[in-house]
Amino acid sequence: MAAPIRPRIPATQFLAAIAFVSAILRSGASDPPLTLDHYASSCPTVFENIRKEMEREVLSDPRSAALVVRLHFHDCFVQGCDGSVLLDDTVMLQGEKTASPNINSLKGFEIIDRIKSKIESDCPRIVSCADILTIAARDAVILVGGPYWDVPVGRKDSRSASYELANTNIPTPNQGLISVISKFLYLGLSITDTVALSGAHTIGMARCENFRARIYGDYELTSGGSPLSEVHLSKLKSACPAAGGGEDNIEPLDYATPYTFDNSYYHLLLNGEGLLNSDQELYSSILAIQTKKLVEQYAFDTGAFFRQFSDSMVKMGNLTNPDSFLQGEVRKNCRLINA
Ligand code: HEM
Ligand SMILES: *[C@@H]1O[C@H](CO)[C@@H](O)[C@H](O)[C@H]1NC(C)=O
Repeated sequence: MAAPIRPRIPATQFLAAIAFVSAILRSGASDPPLTLDHYASSCPTVFENIRKEMEREVLSDPRSAALVVRLHFHDCFVQGCDGSVLLDDTVMLQGEKTASPNINSLKGFEIIDRIKSKIESDCPRIVSCADILTIAARDAVILVGGPYWDVPVGRKDSRSASYELANTNIPTPNQGLISVISKFLYLGLSITDTVALSGAHTIGMARCENFRARIYGDYELTSGGSPLSEVHLSKLKSACPAAGGGEDNIEPLDYATPYTFDNSYYHLLLNGEGLLNSDQELYSSILAIQTKKLVEQYAFDTGAFFRQFSDSMVKMGNLTNPDSFLQGEVRKNCRLINA
């Protein structure tokens, strides 16, 4: 952005401090490890069934892939990947669905319901909703052209959710680069993970509300006012009027190839055409030193992006909630804790 936040202490020292504190916070946790063969004997069909279901979903609506990948991200950033994001609000439990990053925005819950009911009919009460979501996100990426990676499984579903952590842990689009990175570091994810995982924005859509500040802010500056960018910018502006209105109008995060998982998101950033402030800042912020190099690397080398994305997705999927392992369960219905 044109006017990035001004940290009171140098950015690198600030980030090092966050990484240090979060390492201490996490050092007490010794979770039972996830394994590739957790369901090998209890539900040998689980991977095949989820893949088939996701295939059906993506065929009927290509945006399904993006919805499921984002659901998994919002699950993992709140109490670890424990299916907490899937819980509905009830009298007894405040879920995460109405937290500010999620309300009117997070979708795809019915997709997970449909997969869950298929899995339940084959292997009742064996496979956690958190694992289903993690596997489905991997399959979603493959189905739209992205890389394959092995998914360690054995997560438990939480019996709680956190509206507060959903509001504080999940990055928002108009935050500065340092704040966004801090939220990843806080969970033990690196700057490299931040840049690679942001590459998920190579698929999916954003609503006007989330990109208005960007298109009436420094979009013209970062994109250099080239004729093609100007044409695209005026399209964005007509979908999202400055004066307000059209809050829920959607535009692709990567308008070059909105339904393909490729590295064109990074090309977009090199062109200064990232749709969200948080996207473009990875390349254009005056604080973007390390992140800028990574954006360039992934733009020039799809293989490097795919390898890092796979690795970072496993790392994000490894974020676990120690409480879920002690008090967790395999939910019968992903929207409700078991009675
Ligand atoms: C780096 C910080 C991030 C910020 C600030 C951010 C923010 C956003 C916002 C504002 C939207 C549009 C939501 C709407 O308008 O309703 C969005 C969409 C999306 N995000 Fe992110 N995101 C970030 C990282 C990630 C990560 C790490 C992933 C997954 C690995 C991800 C996956 C997605 C996907 C797939 C969509 C499109 C969903 C759809 O089509 O509805 N994002 N993100
Ligand atoms: C994720 O967890 C698995 C199992 O606990 C472990 O083998 C793997 O090294 C971890 N991967 C990353 C990238 O953290």
